[in-house]
Amino acid sequence: MTEFQAPKGVPDYLPPESARFVAVRDGLLEAARRAGYGDVELPIFEDTALFARGVGESTDVVSKEMYTFADRGDRSVTLRPEGTAGVIRAVIEHGLDRGPLPVKLCYSGPFFRYERPQAGRYRQLQQVGVEAIGVDDPALDAEVIAIADAGFRSLGLDGFRLEITSLGDDTCRPQYRELLQDFLFKLDLDEETRRRAQINPLRVLDDKRPAVREMTADAPVMLDHLSDVAKQHFDGVLAHLDALSVPYVINPRMVRGLDYYTKTTFEFVHDGLGAQSGIGGGGRYDGLMQQLGGKDLSGIGFGLGVDRTLLALAAEGKTVTGPARVQVFGVPLGADAKVRLAVLAAQLRAAGVRVDMAYGDRSLKAAMKGADRSGAAIALVAGDRDIEAGTVGVKDMATGEQVDVAVDEVLTEVLSRLRP
Ligand code: HAM
Repeated sequence: MTEFQAPKGVPDYLPPESARFVAVRDGLLEAARRAGYGDVELPIFEDTALFARGVGESTDVVSKEMYTFADRGDRSVTLRPEGTAGVIRAVIEHGLDRGPLPVKLCYSGPFFRYERPQAGRYRQLQQVGVEAIGVDDPALDAEVIAIADAGFRSLGLDGFRLEITSLGDDTCRPQYRELLQDFLFKLDLDEETRRRAQINPLRVLDDKRPAVREMTADAPVMLDHLSDVAKQHFDGVLAHLDALSVPYVINPRMVRGLDYYTKTTFEFVHDGLGAQSGIGGGGRYDGLMQQLGGKDLSGIGFGLGVDRTLLALAAEGKTVTGPARVQVFGVPLGADAKVRLAVLAAQLRAAGVRVDMAYGDRSLKAAMKGADRSGAAIALVAGDRDIEAGTVGVKDMATGEQVDVAVDEVLTEVLSRLRP
């Protein structure tokens, strides 16, 4: 074992896997940008109270999984476990809610949860997310969901399903909560579960233990007790999804791990991943902004797991290919050739071509092996004598064919081969 390892449960992404990671992240983000979402870059750590209040004290995320510490000024800060609370904080702080609505924002980056590491469950996880704030319109819910669906499909993924439900609103949730508690308190529950039923009864429906599952099989579900407004909203979302041909299944027992959700709530589930099957999730959070000290504006968004999307693609036997690491590889033999090829490499890079070359005065054989391994389509091969004669060998790595090209024409020749 080496002296230092990455922290437990934190993946490293290295070439060539890292190119696939970037392709997945960028593919998911591109789907959001096409719908007019603007990028935000927000702090990796925030005031601890932001998450406690935003995500909910009774959630596992806040009560068990946060990376919280006092900074040198003795402020309690937390590595962000999710993106929504920070986005809303920034929207309020910078008054974006006073501009045109909805405010449409997207982001990508690392999030931190002290979970028990296992396949597909990491302590530093990567998400692509969007938030659409300030308009409560079922068409907007459907847009957000359709973007996630399109993002996954643009990568070639298709072995997933969208599960959707409604968690109701202020007018129907309190009554439903009581109804559910009445049901739960009649069951023979252990002390801790009973306490959970007191604080957050919905979470009991998420209990994975078979005995509890069995007891709660007939528990009332929110979907059967929606107010007229919430019901109409949900029907509107489904009608839009139908029109957009986004397939879904209704899962009235869905429980999300964050407390801010209202009305439309959804998850993208992939069956090839074992226990950690959620590749993305999101929903509406109409009370969150006010709870964080802002106006009473609605919002909806999603977070898609980049790590799990990569695993899901692998499970489907698919790979997204990013651009080749290197398109051209320089093989210099001699000091003059090294300088000349370095200049050519710089010119090609300036023209947008990815170029690497052999360093360390290696033998022709070793340098050609490097060219081969690099995956480059073209090798530029030159010794000092070639440079003196004013030529460089341009080798097609696929066919092995090599021709001499005048130094001044190498740039044009390479560009025309790469972009016919
Ligand atoms: P979330 O469901 O907690 O939602 O996370 C979104 C996605 O992040 C999950 O579906 C999963 O793919 C990935 N993920 C979460 N935890 C882990 C982990 N430990 N290891 C690997 N991947 C993980 C949110 O975070 C909300 N902020 C989404 C949202 C935005 N809702 C409204 N707006």
